[in-house]
Amino acid sequence: MRKILAVMAALAAGPAVAQQAADAVQPEATTSGGFAAMSPQVAAALQAKEDGVPVQGKTWMVAAANPHAVQAGADVLAAGGTAADALVAVQTVLGLVEPQSSGLGGGAFLVWYDAASKQLTTLDGRETAPLAATPKRFLDAEGEPLKFYDAVVGGLSVGVPGTPALLATAQAKWGKGNWADLLQPAITLAQDGFDVSPRLAALIAEDAERLARFESTASYFLPQGQPLQAGARLTNVAYADTLRTLADDPRAFYTGAIAQDIVDTVNAAVPAGGLLSTLDFTLYAARERDAVCAPFQGHEVCGMGPPSSGALTVGQILGMLDNYDLGALDPADPQAWRLIGDASRLAFADRGRYMADSDFVPMPTAGLVDPTYLAERAKLLGGDDALPEVSPGTPEWDHAMLLSDDESIELPSTSHISIVDSYGNVASMTTTIENGFGSRLMVRGFLLNNELTDFSFRTHSDGVPIANRLEPGKRPRSSMAPTIVMKDGAPALAIGSPGGSRIIGYVAQAIIAHLAWGMDVQQAVAMPHAVNRFGTYDLEAGTTAADLEGPLGDMGFDVKTQDLNSGLHAIEISDGLKGGADPRREGIALGD
Ligand code: GLY
Repeated sequence: MRKILAVMAALAAGPAVAQQAADAVQPEATTSGGFAAMSPQVAAALQAKEDGVPVQGKTWMVAAANPHAVQAGADVLAAGGTAADALVAVQTVLGLVEPQSSGLGGGAFLVWYDAASKQLTTLDGRETAPLAATPKRFLDAEGEPLKFYDAVVGGLSVGVPGTPALLATAQAKWGKGNWADLLQPAITLAQDGFDVSPRLAALIAEDAERLARFESTASYFLPQGQPLQAGARLTNVAYADTLRTLADDPRAFYTGAIAQDIVDTVNAAVPAGGLLSTLDFTLYAARERDAVCAPFQGHEVCGMGPPSSGALTVGQILGMLDNYDLGALDPADPQAWRLIGDASRLAFADRGRYMADSDFVPMPTAGLVDPTYLAERAKLLGGDDALPEVSPGTPEWDHAMLLSDDESIELPSTSHISIVDSYGNVASMTTTIENGFGSRLMVRGFLLNNELTDFSFRTHSDGVPIANRLEPGKRPRSSMAPTIVMKDGAPALAIGSPGGSRIIGYVAQAIIAHLAWGMDVQQAVAMPHAVNRFGTYDLEAGTTAADLEGPLGDMGFDVKTQDLNSGLHAIEISDGLKGGADPRREGIALGD
């Protein structure tokens, strides 16, 4: 009873208080922004989110970061389309209405459950470094790392986009609909216009100085030199034209005038020119890879392996915690958060040492989530206080190699889409252009990524190479953790979040809340956050998570209370479907 009361109190106070606190300082935190007028279904979904209850469905469901995009996906699913079809509609609308987070100019990872074959697989649509890029790209003349935004803004940071290839590959493999028809909702919305949401308007205002540096970007986001206002009607004819070109031939992104325009824009950008070539585009392909899974609470938590560190790090955290009875601890008990915090520190230590693009760097992928290894690491969590020191472990590996610890910086942006279709297929896709508004370069109606800054700026430390150093043709390490949780061979939960390297903590925590503490998906995504990335223990300001500051500090953690803007979108799959959308952002779930 005590546990249930504590959960209820946390949920009742947490999101609402968090929302107010975040509104005060972080414009990306709220927004209902006129969406309720779209349809009674959208209004009901927004109300469910406000009431803290999941959206229910029996046949299909879609949860994503903007109601226009969710509506586009829902229309496809209601008409008998598959989750892969809906993904195309959702992503292309997101690229229009939430352009700062993801789009054609970025990359994505898809975890896919195929109902017909009962198989789980993944598609890697990560951006790649140009073949002409050199490992010292982000070091100055003295060999010191560039300042982060000096590297981000302009052409230096732009990798070959992967999202268009991923969408086309997924739809060709698992879609039933007509490719061109799936682009139509975004084309119509771009042509006819949509209302700028309060969140987008606030983010533009906040980033106005950087957006103003490039003419095509400035003329779109800062017409007449002023940031777009919430409620302003915005059209994007260039984006509609790009999508019409892709409707005729999805590969046109990589072979024709679009690729040439990206190359020219990136390479001419001042002050930082890039090194892209049309050959980089011709060679680009989305890659199918095995899912990485780890056990937790009688389930298999499965997601995206290298070049993402997402599934491995989430899997390590949960796999270590599976050696303790977390369900027996109250969700408000500081000891639960000691275990979660130190399991996260141990996992991030391994992440920094071993994880990168395994097409370039040998990786102990299986060893990192081996239950015996994780049980051994979990023994370190047996005390009462924070671990005084945390260092990487030695997972089983058939390739001995000396590596140094990574130093890459990742700031929160990105978007997550969860979809279940009427055939039982499940899509969990996290998608990004990296930083908010990416490189700030805009071509043909969409922004270009700054994904290359997800590489370590330093190549070596004390003469020892860093696994995630930049190399020509390599894909930068990601934290994106699109996840499908399996139970007895069937999908039970689709979930993921934006948030830079905090994605890992957000996703792990929501899975713990759902599986160990019995919260429904809406409760799980709304729960106040406490995240440790091997540095400070970050507690969500204005929520009950901040109450942990004293107890965790007393245990020896370095604690920091701050706003934490996840964007979790989850679908629980059991007898029916239940969808949850993060109250910190403007998304919803729709189902039938
Ligand atoms: N750029 C965010 C990520 O890939 O983790």
